[in-house]
Amino acid sequence: MKTPTDIRWAVIYFHFFLSIFFYLLIYIFKFKLTELLSIYMDFTDVIKNRRSHRKFKEDIVEDEILERIIEAARLAPTWSNKQGARYIIVKNKTIIKEIADAGNQKWIENVPMLIVVCIAPNRSGKNVNGLEYFTVDAAICMEHIVLAATNEGLGTCWVGLFNEDKIKVVLSIPEKVRVIALTPIGYSSYTPREQIRKPIEQICFSETYGTIIKF
Ligand SMILES: Cc1cc2nc3c(=O)[nH]c(=O)nc-3n(C[C@H](O)[C@H](O)[C@H](O)COP(=O)(O)O)c2cc1C
Repeated sequence: MKTPTDIRWAVIYFHFFLSIFFYLLIYIFKFKLTELLSIYMDFTDVIKNRRSHRKFKEDIVEDEILERIIEAARLAPTWSNKQGARYIIVKNKTIIKEIADAGNQKWIENVPMLIVVCIAPNRSGKNVNGLEYFTVDAAICMEHIVLAATNEGLGTCWVGLFNEDKIKVVLSIPEKVRVIALTPIGYSSYTPREQIRKPIEQICFSETYGTIIKF
């Protein structure tokens, strides 16, 4: 016959061994609790939560997360489905420093990782008005990266201000390939302030340009 004390000890042992089991699981398989518990945002939250992040913790983003983010870029629409954009993931601290210098943006020196988005213009198209779409293709892919990263709880920041020639030398990018943008990617160490946006009436018109819309 089990006494209440026996049952209490059984419960204590059960919890003790259960905790050890989970610690071992996390240790052996390198599970991240945050990952196990993470719940992806819905689309509106992803859009609303995205901010430009310029300060990060030192941790490197895990490969399986990076792969999901690049997969989001891979699925982006492109001119005639040409899929011209290419992605360079940079973790090397010396290279990151050189890229920061090329951008003349000191804060980039301290980011844990970068993704550089580039494209050869002949891997996109031009419309009948002569408008070249290679920057558009790469920008859509870049924004898929940014939104997918937000969905994973990561921070990013579009960076367009840099010396392209210097970056091409640092990353051995072929001459005909253009660097469109780059972004740090990592676990943000702060909550950036929300930047003010114009009201809808100033940016969206009804039927003709300039005609105020009412929703
Ligand atoms: C095409 C493009 C280029 C940008 N280039 C830079 C840059 O070189 N450096 C930087 O710190 N932020 C850059 N930004 C980030 C913008 O400053 C930022 O998106 C804007 O201030 C709005 O803030 P939010 O992204 O937090 O909403 C760039 C953004 C875009 C879309």
